Amino acid sequence: MSSGHREDAPRQVTLTSLAEMKSRGEPIVMVTAYDHPSARLADEVGVDLVLVGDSAANVVLGYTSTVPVTVAEMLMLTSAVRRGVHRGLVVADLPFGSYEASDEQAVRTAQRFIKKAGADAVKLERGGSSVDRARAIVAAGIAVVGHVGLTPQAATSLGGYRAQGRTADQAENLIRDALALQDAGCFAIVVEAVPADVTALLMPLLNCIMIGIGAGSAADGQVLVWHDLLGLGTGRVAKFVRRFADLQTETSRGLSAYVEAVRERKFPAAEHTYSIAAEELTELRHRLAQ
Ligand code: KIV
Repeated sequence: MSSGHREDAPRQVTLTSLAEMKSRGEPIVMVTAYDHPSARLADEVGVDLVLVGDSAANVVLGYTSTVPVTVAEMLMLTSAVRRGVHRGLVVADLPFGSYEASDEQAVRTAQRFIKKAGADAVKLERGGSSVDRARAIVAAGIAVVGHVGLTPQAATSLGGYRAQGRTADQAENLIRDALALQDAGCFAIVVEAVPADVTALLMPLLNCIMIGIGAGSAADGQVLVWHDLLGLGTGRVAKFVRRFADLQTETSRGLSAYVEAVRERKFPAAEHTYSIAAEELTELRHRLAQ
């Protein structure tokens, strides 16, 4: 009986295969996505982890921070992404206010993302009480990603969207948070906007996977926000973003061409139009004339 396994098929990403990548020193790629076509593209080009980040609040829902995004909104986006990802792992961000109050709340919310939206894992932000929440979710059998450094849900208390861990005190606290999240059972930790030297000091202390964003090149892997890396959006981007494409210009060019073609009646052309048999048209004209 065939197992359905094809030797040439791209290997399914699992927590084990990610750990193997780490031990081989093979860089791990994570990207955010918020809809089905983007998720499908990310999966097709071999992204290992697709993060349905609560950055969706800013980049697709038009909020000015990640704080207002709701569980319902994130569930809908996660479901769409899930339908597009067949090889990689889908990680869903737990929105602000959906997990902090108690372990019970955290487990219940995480279960909704796994059960209703099909996520493979959830991500939560900060150390402190989030360490207990992470431990509780892991104990409930759900894979968890931690997030330290610049944690946008707590941007106000961090003094804004700025690099973290730039003093020995701050960096020591950050390292303690990361180790506590690892101890709580997180299989990966996102480290955001942290000096590369601090990342390099943290790396040998972590057995779990470290995914950097604005944290230098020492991490096991990297993550970027879809809209930032593809140049979709006109706002200022963080220092750590590299634009790998300029889809804003390309999209604007395409849309302008569409507007112009419609206004000048150059679209639709004959090749975009359906036909009707001559006798049917004659019959229709005849009926309308009566
Ligand atoms: O919400 C998000 O997109 C994130 C990444 C920046 C890591 O948390």
